[in-house]
Amino acid sequence: MIATAGGSKRGFVEGFGADEVIDYSAVDFTEAVRDIDVALDTIGGNTAERSLDVLRPGGHLVTAAAEEDAELVAPFEAAGMRFSGIAVGPDPVALRGLVALVEQGRLRVHVQETFPFERAAEAHRLLDGGHLQGKLALV
Ligand SMILES: NC(=O)c1ccc[n+]([C@@H]2O[C@H](COP(=O)([O-])OP(=O)(O)OC[C@H]3O[C@@H](n4cnc5c(N)ncnc54)[C@H](OP(=O)(O)O)[C@@H]3O)[C@@H](O)[C@H]2O)c1
Repeated sequence: MIATAGGSKRGFVEGFGADEVIDYSAVDFTEAVRDIDVALDTIGGNTAERSLDVLRPGGHLVTAAAEEDAELVAPFEAAGMRFSGIAVGPDPVALRGLVALVEQGRLRVHVQETFPFERAAEAHRLLDGGHLQGKLALV
C-alpha cells in the first residue's frame, strides 16, 4: 500500500500500515508510481484524472471527492480501467459493522479534536482550513 501525505505526517501514515509514503509537497505521485491495482482519491481537483497514469491496465480508481463527475468515467473506460465514486450516507447496519471492527481492534480512527455542539462553527472553520490529522468529532 502506497500513500500520499505531507512530509510531517509520514510517521502517522506509516502507523496505519502504508508500505511507502510519497510526500506530495515534494514529489509528483504520477512520476513516482506505476501499475497500481486500485487508487483511492480523497483529494479531488484533477487527482482522479492524473491517476490514469499510475494505474495498471484494468485498474480501478475510486474517488470520495468527485463521485458525481460522470465525465470522468469515459477516459477511464477508454483506457480499459474502472472509475467509481463512494459516498457516505446514514446506514445504521453498516455503522454497526464498523463499530464491531473498532471493538475487534481491526479499524482505528484518529480523532484530532472533540467539540461540544455549541462549538460546531469552530470545528467547521478548522475543517475549512484543511491540514487536519484524522477526524473532528462533535459530541
Ligand atoms: N464521499 C463521501 O461520502 C465523503 C465523505 C467524507 C469526506 N469526503 C471527501 O473526502 C476528502 C477528504 O476529506 P477529509 O475529511 O479527509 O479531510 P481533508 O481536510 O480534505 O484532508 C486533509 C488531509 O489531506 C492531506 N492532503 C491535502 N492535500 C493532499 C495531497 N495533494 N496529497 C495527499 N494528502 C493531501 C492533508 O495533509 P497536509 O496537512 O500534510 O497537507 C490533510 O492531512 C474531501 O474531499 C471530502 O469532501 C467524501
